[in-house]
Amino acid sequence: MESRGFSIDELAIPTEPNGTGWTDFAAAVAVRNTVETQAYGTGVLAQSAEELLPGWLTLEHAPRRLFVARVGGEIVGRAIYETQADPGSDFAWFTVEVLPEFRNRGIGTALTHRLDAAARLDGRSVSVVYAVSPDAPGERLAAPTGFGSVPAANPEVRFLLRHGYSLEQVERGSILVLPVDSAVLARRLAEAAARAGGDYAVLTWAGRTPTRWLEDIALLYTRMSTDAPTAGLAEPEDVWTVERLVAEQEASATGPRVALVSAALHRPSGRLAAFTELSVPSEPGRAVEQDDTLVLREHRGHRLGMLVKVANLQQLQLQFPEQSAVTTFNAEENRYMLDVNEALGFVPMGYEGAWRKVSAAAGSAGSSATTGS
Ligand SMILES: CC(C)(COP(=O)(O)OP(=O)(O)OC[C@H]1O[C@@H](n2cnc3c(N)ncnc32)[C@H](O)[C@@H]1OP(=O)(O)O)[C@@H](O)C(=O)NCCC(=O)NCCS
Repeated sequence: MESRGFSIDELAIPTEPNGTGWTDFAAAVAVRNTVETQAYGTGVLAQSAEELLPGWLTLEHAPRRLFVARVGGEIVGRAIYETQADPGSDFAWFTVEVLPEFRNRGIGTALTHRLDAAARLDGRSVSVVYAVSPDAPGERLAAPTGFGSVPAANPEVRFLLRHGYSLEQVERGSILVLPVDSAVLARRLAEAAARAGGDYAVLTWAGRTPTRWLEDIALLYTRMSTDAPTAGLAEPEDVWTVERLVAEQEASATGPRVALVSAALHRPSGRLAAFTELSVPSEPGRAVEQDDTLVLREHRGHRLGMLVKVANLQQLQLQFPEQSAVTTFNAEENRYMLDVNEALGFVPMGYEGAWRKVSAAAGSAGSSATTGS
């Protein structure tokens, strides 16, 4: 599509680094990194195209489409459409990012319309957007949860309101500078283990989930979508089967990052009751990403969150002593998780709004969605 000096097209995703389409995929990743670095005022969240590619290799389980905006051939914006494999799902997740120097000329709106068209075609009537909101003076828009707010005059806030979204939740991005004093970790672990008692034991591993725990980890991943607070977003259950978990881990193994996992075994049942996962870059001096952490509802109140998090930080510092920091994202109303993180030394580095829009029922597929290129 050509209009007002820019064009939009859908990228075919490369199947491996330097494969067909790699240059464009890497340019879209560069847009992500520039936009996030500007919004957070730090480059710690940046990832390479090699690191992000595995997330695009299991589309049968987690469908995603990538659109880019070009000016004179150069990629200046990107948009991601994500949905669930379940054809009956109502939900889609949107990301729209435009390089700062190419804003306010309609590119963000055009990319959003492209995502709207993709959602209409799939019959997804609810769209969710997570958008970083850098701090700014002036009026604030409060989350209906009662926890957190975003600056009302920010461009992304105005943009989302104008496109019919409502703010449902605020997420806090936090950072922990490494290393954490190992005596502090040992004390926290001992305290948490004492509270958990003899019914629970900590297991740790790196990389793929041991076969014995595949079913339990698939259940914990699934329960992440139902047992973590999602406020008025009301995000749906995201079902993880063992097959999906194995496929995702095979894809991850093709990339440069390593997963470090700590889990709490409930000895009487022989099942996992809690887990936490870190994603570690291969180069030293980088920030490690905190991925999921969950204690199953029926096992809460035993300090298992602290237990598995501390065990995983110990594992991280032992195996990857040269990493510089850990970053994590939590709902601002998720006091239990924030208490654990604050006790370990995490401090806020920025906030994201979580936004939701419900569109009229899809009806027919007579939209202007592009097809893959
Ligand atoms: C939010 C974001 C995607 C908007 O991108 P953009 O390309 O600037 O979006 P648009 O140009 O379509 O719209 C922005 C403003 O420019 C105005 N505009 C649109 N077309 C225009 C044109 N041709 N000339 C001048 N202004 C124009 C819009 O009316 C809008 O005004 P408003 O802020 O008063 O509502 C961009 O700021 C961004 O990348 N932010 C960081 C990532 C993010 O927060 N994403 C969340 C949104 S999903």
